[in-house]
Amino acid sequence: MTNVLNHLAIIMDGNGRWAKQRGLPRQAGHQKGAEVVIDIAKAAKELGVKFLTLYAFSTENWKRPIEEVNALMNLLRQYLQKDFKELKENDIRIVFIGERNMLAADICERMTALEDETAANKSATLLVALSYGARPEIVRAAQELAQKVKSGEMRLEQIDEKTFSTALDTKDVPDPDVLIRTGGEQRLSNFLLWQLAYAEFFFTDTLWPDFTKEELKTIVEKYQTRERRYGKV
Ligand code: FPP
Repeated sequence: MTNVLNHLAIIMDGNGRWAKQRGLPRQAGHQKGAEVVIDIAKAAKELGVKFLTLYAFSTENWKRPIEEVNALMNLLRQYLQKDFKELKENDIRIVFIGERNMLAADICERMTALEDETAANKSATLLVALSYGARPEIVRAAQELAQKVKSGEMRLEQIDEKTFSTALDTKDVPDPDVLIRTGGEQRLSNFLLWQLAYAEFFFTDTLWPDFTKEELKTIVEKYQTRERRYGKV
């Protein structure tokens, strides 16, 4: 029996090294990386993936040099205003996860507008993790549930894995089946710690700007033949 890849999560690493290899500024790597985002989102949809979650900017990324943070934010503005339209036209719903209050007001407005404009799209959902960290997300969920118990809206016994999941940013989204990390490193970097509990991991040395839909297809095929036991024999 082959596994169905319903939800794919990707840590897009290696933009900086891709630029360095070419003697270009790091921003050039992010620029190319953003183009790849559009290609891979369309390719994933064609492969039947219903949910794609991309780690675009972590809470830790705020500590990068201000020039690089600004360049990433301006790139995001450009994509929110223009380049994500292509996904909209491809019937892809766009959702953002992470801490919005850290982002500039104009960016937040465009994010909400894009979510509204694509809310009825049915073919696939792209979740973009922006100013996202899994531990802060888990802490927010714990606080939300504790508040509900405190106010009497919920009983302590009602806190279980299911209710906890619905307090996370990924509420209503099934857990990822597969995690891919490009760029050669083999770590989670605070990405979807709760949600990736049973995911299959794939690491590739390919730098994100060089990642292609052909490589994605190869990984999907490998996943389809992996045995998933979920702790059973
Ligand atoms: C990691 O590469 C990549 C990032 C921190 C940013 C990822 C962002 C994009 C691919 C662009 C997203 C844009 C939109 C519009 C969604 P790195 O800079 O850590 O690379 P390095 O490890 O080689 O230095």
